[in-house]
Amino acid sequence: MQAEYRQRREALMSKIGNGTAIFRSAPMAVMHNDVEYAYRQDSDFLYLTGLNEAEAVAVLAPHHQEHKFILFVQPKDITKEVWSGYVTGVDAAKSIYGADEAYPINELNEKLPQYLSNADRIYYRFGRDKSFNQTVLNHYQRLLRVYPKRGIGPTAIQDTCTILDSMRMVKTESELALMRKAADIAVEAHNLAFEIAKPGVYEYEIQAEMERIFRKHGALGPAYPSIVASGANSCILHYIENNRQMQDGDLLLIDAGCSYDYYNSDITRTFPVGGKFTEEQKILYELVLSAQKQAIAQVKPGNAYNLIHDTALRVLVEGMVELGILKGEVDKLIEEEKYKPYYMHRTGHWLGLDVHDVGVYQHGEDNPLILQPGQVLTVEPGIYIVPGAKPAEEQPQVDQKWMGIGIRIEDDVLVTATGCEVLTKGVDKELQDMER
Ligand code: GLY
Ligand code: MN
Ligand code: MN
Repeated sequence: MQAEYRQRREALMSKIGNGTAIFRSAPMAVMHNDVEYAYRQDSDFLYLTGLNEAEAVAVLAPHHQEHKFILFVQPKDITKEVWSGYVTGVDAAKSIYGADEAYPINELNEKLPQYLSNADRIYYRFGRDKSFNQTVLNHYQRLLRVYPKRGIGPTAIQDTCTILDSMRMVKTESELALMRKAADIAVEAHNLAFEIAKPGVYEYEIQAEMERIFRKHGALGPAYPSIVASGANSCILHYIENNRQMQDGDLLLIDAGCSYDYYNSDITRTFPVGGKFTEEQKILYELVLSAQKQAIAQVKPGNAYNLIHDTALRVLVEGMVELGILKGEVDKLIEEEKYKPYYMHRTGHWLGLDVHDVGVYQHGEDNPLILQPGQVLTVEPGIYIVPGAKPAEEQPQVDQKWMGIGIRIEDDVLVTATGCEVLTKGVDKELQDMER
Protein backbone atom coordinates (compact mmCIF):
# COMPACT_ATOMS: atom_id res chain seq x y z
CA MET A 1 0.00 0.00 0.00
CA GLN A 2 2.90 2.38 0.73
CA ALA A 3 3.87 2.03 -2.94
CA GLU A 4 0.44 3.26 -3.96
CA TYR A 5 0.62 6.27 -1.66
CA ARG A 6 3.97 7.09 -3.20
CA GLN A 7 2.52 6.80 -6.71
CA ARG A 8 -0.25 9.20 -5.76
CA ARG A 9 2.24 11.72 -4.39
CA GLU A 10 4.33 11.42 -7.51
CA ALA A 11 1.30 11.87 -9.74
CA LEU A 12 0.36 14.98 -7.80
CA MET A 13 3.91 16.33 -7.85
CA SER A 14 4.14 15.86 -11.60
CA LYS A 15 1.21 18.25 -11.91
CA ILE A 16 2.29 21.05 -9.62
CA GLY A 17 5.54 22.02 -11.33
CA ASN A 18 7.42 24.42 -9.10
CA GLY A 19 4.66 24.63 -6.56
CA THR A 20 4.59 23.34 -3.00
CA ALA A 21 1.50 21.56 -1.72
CA ILE A 22 0.53 21.59 1.95
CA PHE A 23 -1.90 19.16 3.59
CA ARG A 24 -3.22 19.46 7.09
CA SER A 25 -4.51 16.56 9.17
CA ALA A 26 -8.13 16.80 10.32
CA PRO A 27 -8.70 18.46 13.70
CA MET A 28 -9.96 16.37 16.60
CA ALA A 29 -13.72 16.72 16.97
CA VAL A 30 -15.19 17.25 20.42
CA MET A 31 -18.13 15.12 21.51
CA HIS A 32 -18.66 16.94 24.81
CA ASN A 33 -16.48 18.61 27.42
CA ASP A 34 -13.11 16.83 27.29
CA VAL A 35 -14.33 13.78 25.35
CA GLU A 36 -13.39 13.53 21.70
CA TYR A 37 -14.84 11.53 18.83
CA ALA A 38 -12.77 8.68 17.42
CA TYR A 39 -10.23 10.34 15.18
CA ARG A 40 -10.87 10.38 11.43
CA GLN A 41 -8.16 11.73 9.18
CA ASP A 42 -8.75 14.32 6.49
CA SER A 43 -9.39 12.42 3.24
CA ASP A 44 -6.75 14.23 1.15
CA PHE A 45 -4.18 13.62 3.85
CA LEU A 46 -5.10 9.96 4.06
CA TYR A 47 -5.11 9.55 0.28
CA LEU A 48 -1.55 10.83 -0.01
CA THR A 49 0.08 9.46 3.14
CA GLY A 50 -1.99 6.69 4.76
CA LEU A 51 -1.22 8.31 8.12
CA ASN A 52 -4.25 8.48 10.40
CA GLU A 53 -2.99 10.93 13.02
CA ALA A 54 -3.92 14.38 14.23
CA GLU A 55 -1.49 17.27 14.56
CA ALA A 56 0.32 16.45 11.35
CA VAL A 57 1.23 18.32 8.18
CA ALA A 58 2.38 16.80 4.89
CA VAL A 59 4.32 18.87 2.39
CA LEU A 60 5.06 17.99 -1.23
CA ALA A 61 7.86 20.06 -2.75
CA PRO A 62 8.84 18.54 -6.12
CA HIS A 63 11.32 21.32 -6.89
CA HIS A 64 13.24 20.95 -3.62
CA GLN A 65 16.73 19.54 -4.08
CA GLU A 66 16.71 17.03 -1.24
CA HIS A 67 13.22 16.61 0.20
CA LYS A 68 10.16 16.10 -1.96
CA PHE A 69 7.91 14.63 0.73
CA ILE A 70 8.08 16.05 4.21
CA LEU A 71 6.03 15.08 7.24
CA PHE A 72 5.51 17.06 10.43
CA VAL A 73 4.12 14.76 13.13
CA GLN A 74 3.55 14.48 16.86
CA PRO A 75 6.78 13.38 18.53
CA LYS A 76 6.89 10.17 20.56
CA ASP A 77 6.12 10.89 24.21
CA ILE A 78 5.18 7.88 26.28
CA THR A 79 3.68 9.87 29.15
CA LYS A 80 1.23 11.39 26.67
CA GLU A 81 0.77 8.22 24.63
CA VAL A 82 -0.26 6.26 27.70
CA TRP A 83 -3.41 8.42 27.75
CA SER A 84 -4.25 8.90 24.11
CA GLY A 85 -2.59 6.05 22.24
CA TYR A 86 0.62 5.47 20.34
CA VAL A 87 1.74 7.93 17.72
CA THR A 88 4.05 7.29 14.80
CA GLY A 89 6.77 9.70 15.76
CA VAL A 90 9.41 11.40 13.68
CA ASP A 91 11.61 8.38 12.90
CA ALA A 92 8.80 6.12 11.73
CA ALA A 93 7.38 8.96 9.64
CA LYS A 94 10.41 8.34 7.47
CA SER A 95 10.84 4.57 7.78
CA ILE A 96 7.17 3.58 7.58
CA TYR A 97 5.52 6.42 5.72
CA GLY A 98 8.37 7.13 3.34
CA ALA A 99 8.98 10.78 4.13
CA ASP A 100 12.30 12.15 2.83
CA GLU A 101 12.44 14.27 5.95
CA ALA A 102 10.33 14.43 9.09
CA TYR A 103 10.09 16.93 11.94
CA PRO A 104 8.13 17.29 15.15
CA ILE A 105 5.03 19.36 14.51
CA ASN A 106 6.18 22.12 16.87
CA GLU A 107 8.97 22.92 14.39
CA LEU A 108 6.53 23.64 11.59
CA ASN A 109 6.93 27.42 11.50
CA GLU A 110 10.68 27.16 11.62
CA LYS A 111 11.09 24.44 8.97
CA LEU A 112 8.26 25.11 6.54
CA PRO A 113 9.73 28.24 4.86
CA GLN A 114 12.61 26.33 3.27
CA TYR A 115 10.04 24.32 1.29
CA LEU A 116 8.02 27.36 0.27
CA SER A 117 10.57 30.05 -0.42
CA ASN A 118 11.54 28.88 -3.92
CA ALA A 119 8.10 27.66 -4.97
CA ASP A 120 6.12 29.71 -7.47
CA ARG A 121 2.83 28.98 -5.76
CA ILE A 122 1.33 27.22 -2.78
CA TYR A 123 -1.28 24.53 -3.23
CA TYR A 124 -3.59 24.39 -0.25
CA ARG A 125 -7.24 23.58 0.39
CA PHE A 126 -8.55 26.06 2.93
CA GLY A 127 -10.31 23.87 5.45
CA ARG A 128 -12.06 23.60 8.77
CA ASP A 129 -8.92 24.29 10.78
CA LYS A 130 -9.08 28.08 10.81
CA SER A 131 -5.91 28.59 12.75
CA PHE A 132 -3.98 26.48 10.26
CA ASN A 133 -5.52 28.42 7.38
CA GLN A 134 -4.07 31.49 9.06
CA THR A 135 -0.68 29.80 9.45
CA VAL A 136 -0.49 29.17 5.71
CA LEU A 137 -1.55 32.74 4.97
CA ASN A 138 1.09 34.09 7.36
CA HIS A 139 3.86 32.15 5.61
CA TYR A 140 2.58 33.23 2.24
CA GLN A 141 2.39 36.90 3.19
CA ARG A 142 5.81 36.89 4.75
CA LEU A 143 7.31 35.52 1.55
CA LEU A 144 5.27 37.89 -0.58
CA ARG A 145 6.69 40.88 1.30
CA VAL A 146 10.24 39.92 0.37
CA TYR A 147 9.31 38.87 -3.17
CA PRO A 148 10.49 42.16 -4.81
CA LYS A 149 13.87 41.83 -3.19
CA ARG A 150 14.28 38.11 -3.96
CA GLY A 151 12.49 37.88 -7.27
CA ILE A 152 11.41 34.37 -6.44
CA GLY A 153 8.76 32.84 -4.20
CA PRO A 154 5.06 32.02 -4.18
CA THR A 155 2.76 34.63 -5.70
CA ALA A 156 -0.46 32.65 -5.54
CA ILE A 157 -2.32 30.15 -3.42
CA GLN A 158 -4.17 27.67 -5.58
CA ASP A 159 -6.79 25.32 -4.18
CA THR A 160 -5.54 21.74 -4.35
CA CYS A 161 -8.98 20.65 -5.58
CA THR A 162 -8.07 21.66 -9.11
CA ILE A 163 -5.57 18.80 -9.22
CA LEU A 164 -6.32 16.32 -6.49
CA ASP A 165 -10.07 15.93 -6.93
CA SER A 166 -9.87 14.51 -10.43
CA MET A 167 -7.28 12.01 -9.16
CA ARG A 168 -9.46 10.93 -6.23
CA MET A 169 -12.48 10.68 -8.50
CA VAL A 170 -11.07 7.75 -10.47
CA LYS A 171 -10.55 4.80 -8.15
CA THR A 172 -7.66 2.35 -8.35
CA GLU A 173 -8.08 -1.41 -8.00
CA SER A 174 -7.06 -1.32 -4.35
CA GLU A 175 -9.54 1.45 -3.62
CA LEU A 176 -12.25 -0.50 -5.43
CA ALA A 177 -11.52 -3.56 -3.34
CA LEU A 178 -12.24 -1.51 -0.22
CA MET A 179 -15.35 0.01 -1.74
CA ARG A 180 -16.65 -3.43 -2.67
CA LYS A 181 -16.08 -4.56 0.89
CA ALA A 182 -17.90 -1.50 2.27
CA ALA A 183 -20.73 -2.22 -0.16
CA ASP A 184 -20.93 -5.93 0.74
CA ILE A 185 -21.10 -5.22 4.47
CA ALA A 186 -23.86 -2.66 4.01
CA VAL A 187 -25.72 -5.08 1.75
CA GLU A 188 -25.69 -7.66 4.53
CA ALA A 189 -26.93 -5.07 7.02
CA HIS A 190 -29.81 -4.03 4.76
CA ASN A 191 -30.79 -7.64 4.16
CA LEU A 192 -30.91 -8.19 7.90
CA ALA A 193 -33.00 -5.04 8.39
CA PHE A 194 -35.49 -6.33 5.86
CA GLU A 195 -35.83 -9.56 7.82
CA ILE A 196 -36.32 -8.05 11.26
CA ALA A 197 -38.44 -4.97 10.57
CA LYS A 198 -42.04 -5.48 11.58
CA PRO A 199 -44.82 -3.58 13.32
CA GLY A 200 -44.00 -2.90 16.98
CA VAL A 201 -40.24 -2.75 16.48
CA TYR A 202 -38.51 0.58 17.14
CA GLU A 203 -36.46 2.26 14.46
CA TYR A 204 -33.40 2.27 16.72
CA GLU A 205 -33.55 -1.49 17.03
CA ILE A 206 -33.08 -1.76 13.29
CA GLN A 207 -30.27 0.78 13.45
CA ALA A 208 -28.54 -1.18 16.21
CA GLU A 209 -28.68 -4.46 14.30
CA MET A 210 -27.35 -2.86 11.13
CA GLU A 211 -24.49 -1.12 12.90
CA ARG A 212 -23.67 -4.38 14.67
CA ILE A 213 -23.13 -5.92 11.25
CA PHE A 214 -20.86 -3.02 10.27
CA ARG A 215 -18.57 -3.48 13.25
CA LYS A 216 -18.74 -7.26 13.15
CA HIS A 217 -17.05 -7.16 9.75
CA GLY A 218 -14.41 -4.68 10.83
CA ALA A 219 -15.95 -1.56 9.34
CA LEU A 220 -15.13 1.60 11.29
CA GLY A 221 -18.85 2.16 11.71
CA PRO A 222 -21.59 3.98 9.86
CA ALA A 223 -20.46 6.14 6.94
CA TYR A 224 -22.91 8.82 8.17
CA PRO A 225 -25.63 8.81 10.82
CA SER A 226 -27.92 5.93 9.83
CA ILE A 227 -31.39 6.99 8.75
CA VAL A 228 -34.12 4.57 9.82
CA ALA A 229 -37.29 6.44 9.01
CA SER A 230 -40.74 4.91 9.24
CA GLY A 231 -44.11 6.37 8.33
CA ALA A 232 -44.02 10.08 7.63
CA ASN A 233 -40.43 10.24 8.96
CA SER A 234 -39.48 8.87 5.55
CA CYS A 235 -40.17 12.34 4.16
CA ILE A 236 -37.43 13.92 6.29
CA LEU A 237 -34.23 13.56 4.29
CA HIS A 238 -31.83 13.58 7.22
CA TYR A 239 -34.04 12.02 9.88
CA ILE A 240 -31.66 10.47 12.42
CA GLU A 241 -33.65 10.40 15.67
CA ASN A 242 -34.67 6.82 14.83
CA ASN A 243 -36.89 6.60 17.90
CA ARG A 244 -40.33 5.77 16.56
CA GLN A 245 -42.18 2.50 16.99
CA MET A 246 -43.11 1.19 13.57
CA GLN A 247 -46.72 0.52 12.66
CA ASP A 248 -48.47 -1.73 10.21
CA GLY A 249 -49.09 0.25 7.04
CA ASP A 250 -45.85 2.25 7.36
CA LEU A 251 -43.15 2.39 4.81
CA LEU A 252 -39.66 2.11 6.25
CA LEU A 253 -36.93 4.08 4.51
CA ILE A 254 -33.44 3.02 5.54
CA ASP A 255 -30.47 5.02 4.32
CA ALA A 256 -27.37 3.45 5.84
CA GLY A 257 -23.87 2.57 4.76
CA CYS A 258 -20.56 1.86 6.39
CA SER A 259 -17.01 3.05 6.27
CA TYR A 260 -14.50 0.28 5.66
CA ASP A 261 -10.86 1.31 5.89
CA TYR A 262 -12.13 4.87 5.26
CA TYR A 263 -14.04 3.99 2.06
CA ASN A 264 -17.79 4.37 2.18
CA SER A 265 -20.96 2.73 1.01
CA ASP A 266 -24.32 4.47 0.88
CA ILE A 267 -27.51 2.45 0.34
CA THR A 268 -31.20 3.30 0.64
CA ARG A 269 -34.09 0.91 0.51
CA THR A 270 -37.77 1.51 1.23
CA PHE A 271 -40.23 -1.25 2.03
CA PRO A 272 -43.53 -1.84 3.83
CA VAL A 273 -43.07 -2.65 7.53
CA GLY A 274 -46.13 -4.89 7.59
CA GLY A 275 -45.11 -6.78 4.46
CA LYS A 276 -47.65 -5.33 2.00
CA PHE A 277 -47.68 -2.00 0.15
CA THR A 278 -50.84 0.06 0.10
CA GLU A 279 -52.01 0.88 -3.40
CA GLU A 280 -50.55 4.41 -3.23
CA GLN A 281 -47.24 3.24 -1.78
CA LYS A 282 -46.96 0.66 -4.53
CA ILE A 283 -47.61 3.20 -7.30
CA LEU A 284 -45.00 5.64 -6.01
CA TYR A 285 -42.51 2.85 -5.33
CA GLU A 286 -42.76 1.62 -8.90
CA LEU A 287 -42.27 5.14 -10.16
CA VAL A 288 -39.12 5.73 -8.11
CA LEU A 289 -37.76 2.31 -9.04
CA SER A 290 -38.36 2.98 -12.70
CA ALA A 291 -36.59 6.35 -12.40
CA GLN A 292 -33.66 4.70 -10.65
CA LYS A 293 -33.29 1.90 -13.18
CA GLN A 294 -33.48 4.23 -16.14
CA ALA A 295 -30.94 6.53 -14.53
CA ILE A 296 -28.56 3.64 -13.84
CA ALA A 297 -28.87 2.63 -17.49
CA GLN A 298 -27.25 5.97 -18.34
CA VAL A 299 -24.15 5.23 -16.26
CA LYS A 300 -21.53 4.42 -18.88
CA PRO A 301 -18.31 5.91 -20.15
CA GLY A 302 -18.88 8.77 -22.56
CA ASN A 303 -22.21 9.85 -21.08
CA ALA A 304 -22.54 13.18 -19.33
CA TYR A 305 -22.83 12.96 -15.54
CA ASN A 306 -25.91 15.19 -15.58
CA LEU A 307 -27.75 12.77 -17.83
CA ILE A 308 -28.25 10.53 -14.78
CA HIS A 309 -30.17 13.20 -12.89
CA ASP A 310 -31.97 14.47 -15.98
CA THR A 311 -33.17 10.96 -16.80
CA ALA A 312 -34.45 10.21 -13.31
CA LEU A 313 -36.07 13.62 -13.00
CA ARG A 314 -37.98 13.26 -16.27
CA VAL A 315 -39.35 9.85 -15.27
CA LEU A 316 -40.42 11.19 -11.88
CA VAL A 317 -42.08 14.31 -13.26
CA GLU A 318 -43.89 12.40 -16.02
CA GLY A 319 -45.14 9.98 -13.39
CA MET A 320 -46.27 12.70 -11.02
CA VAL A 321 -48.20 14.39 -13.85
CA GLU A 322 -49.94 11.12 -14.67
CA LEU A 323 -50.91 10.72 -11.02
CA GLY A 324 -52.20 14.29 -10.75
CA ILE A 325 -49.60 15.31 -8.19
CA LEU A 326 -48.23 17.81 -10.71
CA LYS A 327 -50.13 19.55 -13.48
CA GLY A 328 -48.82 20.90 -16.79
CA GLU A 329 -46.28 20.23 -19.46
CA VAL A 330 -43.34 18.08 -18.36
CA ASP A 331 -40.60 20.25 -19.90
CA LYS A 332 -42.01 23.37 -18.34
CA LEU A 333 -42.46 21.74 -14.93
CA ILE A 334 -38.84 20.69 -15.04
CA GLU A 335 -37.59 24.05 -16.21
CA GLU A 336 -39.56 25.90 -13.57
CA GLU A 337 -38.66 23.34 -10.89
CA LYS A 338 -42.28 22.80 -9.90
CA TYR A 339 -41.39 19.29 -8.75
CA LYS A 340 -39.14 20.62 -5.97
CA PRO A 341 -41.64 20.23 -3.10
CA TYR A 342 -41.60 16.46 -3.79
CA TYR A 343 -38.10 15.91 -5.15
CA MET A 344 -35.73 18.39 -3.58
CA HIS A 345 -32.34 16.72 -3.95
CA ARG A 346 -30.12 15.67 -6.82
CA THR A 347 -30.03 12.08 -8.03
CA GLY A 348 -26.61 11.22 -6.63
CA HIS A 349 -23.05 12.13 -5.85
CA TRP A 350 -19.51 10.82 -6.15
CA LEU A 351 -18.64 8.23 -3.51
CA GLY A 352 -15.26 7.30 -2.06
CA LEU A 353 -13.19 8.41 0.91
CA ASP A 354 -15.90 10.97 1.53
CA VAL A 355 -19.54 9.95 1.30
CA HIS A 356 -20.16 13.01 -0.79
CA ASP A 357 -16.82 12.58 -2.46
CA VAL A 358 -14.76 15.29 -4.10
CA GLY A 359 -14.94 16.11 -7.77
CA VAL A 360 -16.85 18.47 -10.03
CA TYR A 361 -20.11 17.42 -11.67
CA GLN A 362 -19.79 19.65 -14.72
CA HIS A 363 -17.31 22.13 -16.13
CA GLY A 364 -19.70 25.05 -16.32
CA GLU A 365 -23.25 24.86 -17.62
CA ASP A 366 -22.48 24.05 -21.25
CA ASN A 367 -19.58 21.73 -20.64
CA PRO A 368 -20.62 18.37 -19.19
CA LEU A 369 -18.48 16.12 -17.05
CA ILE A 370 -18.06 12.94 -19.05
CA LEU A 371 -18.16 9.66 -17.17
CA GLN A 372 -15.09 7.46 -17.24
CA PRO A 373 -14.23 4.00 -15.91
CA GLY A 374 -13.24 3.88 -12.24
CA GLN A 375 -15.64 6.54 -11.04
CA VAL A 376 -18.09 5.52 -8.33
CA LEU A 377 -21.34 7.35 -7.79
CA THR A 378 -24.70 6.89 -6.14
CA VAL A 379 -28.00 6.85 -7.99
CA GLU A 380 -30.74 7.79 -5.55
CA PRO A 381 -33.97 9.27 -6.84
CA GLY A 382 -36.89 9.67 -4.48
CA ILE A 383 -40.34 11.12 -3.98
CA TYR A 384 -41.42 12.71 -0.71
CA ILE A 385 -45.00 13.82 -0.23
CA VAL A 386 -44.20 15.80 2.88
CA PRO A 387 -47.22 16.45 5.12
CA GLY A 388 -47.71 20.20 5.24
CA ALA A 389 -45.53 20.87 2.19
CA LYS A 390 -46.82 23.65 -0.03
CA PRO A 391 -47.24 22.85 -3.73
CA ALA A 392 -45.30 25.11 -6.09
CA GLU A 393 -47.15 28.09 -7.50
CA GLU A 394 -50.06 27.20 -9.79
CA GLN A 395 -49.78 23.55 -8.79
CA PRO A 396 -52.62 21.49 -7.27
CA GLN A 397 -52.92 20.54 -3.62
CA VAL A 398 -51.81 16.97 -3.29
CA ASP A 399 -54.56 14.44 -2.66
CA GLN A 400 -54.57 13.32 0.97
CA LYS A 401 -54.05 9.71 -0.04
CA TRP A 402 -50.40 10.38 -0.99
CA MET A 403 -49.51 12.26 2.20
CA GLY A 404 -46.63 11.06 4.29
CA ILE A 405 -45.24 8.70 1.68
CA GLY A 406 -41.47 9.04 1.29
CA ILE A 407 -39.51 6.72 -0.96
CA ARG A 408 -35.87 6.67 -1.98
CA ILE A 409 -33.89 3.90 -3.64
CA GLU A 410 -30.13 4.29 -3.65
CA ASP A 411 -27.36 2.14 -5.08
CA ASP A 412 -23.61 2.58 -5.44
CA VAL A 413 -22.53 2.29 -9.04
CA LEU A 414 -19.09 1.84 -10.58
CA VAL A 415 -18.45 3.08 -14.10
CA THR A 416 -16.79 0.22 -16.01
CA ALA A 417 -15.15 0.08 -19.44
CA THR A 418 -18.40 -0.94 -21.08
CA GLY A 419 -21.14 0.38 -18.80
CA CYS A 420 -21.54 0.05 -15.09
CA GLU A 421 -21.60 -2.34 -12.20
CA VAL A 422 -24.01 -1.90 -9.32
CA LEU A 423 -21.85 -2.61 -6.27
CA THR A 424 -24.88 -2.85 -3.99
CA LYS A 425 -27.03 -5.13 -6.13
CA GLY A 426 -27.15 -7.72 -3.33
CA VAL A 427 -30.11 -5.94 -1.72
CA ASP A 428 -33.45 -6.54 -3.40
CA LYS A 429 -35.38 -3.65 -4.85
CA GLU A 430 -37.85 -5.22 -7.29
CA LEU A 431 -41.44 -4.54 -6.26
CA GLN A 432 -42.39 -8.18 -5.68
CA ASP A 433 -39.29 -8.74 -3.52
CA MET A 434 -40.18 -5.88 -1.17
CA GLU A 435 -43.39 -7.58 -0.04
CA ARG A 436 -43.58 -10.55 2.29
N1 GLY B 1 -26.96 9.39 3.13
C1 GLY B 1 -26.40 10.46 2.44
C2 GLY B 1 -26.78 10.46 1.04
O1 GLY B 1 -27.51 9.61 0.60
O2 GLY B 1 -26.31 11.25 0.28
MN1 MN C 1 -27.74 7.69 1.33
MN1 MN D 1 -26.16 9.20 -1.12
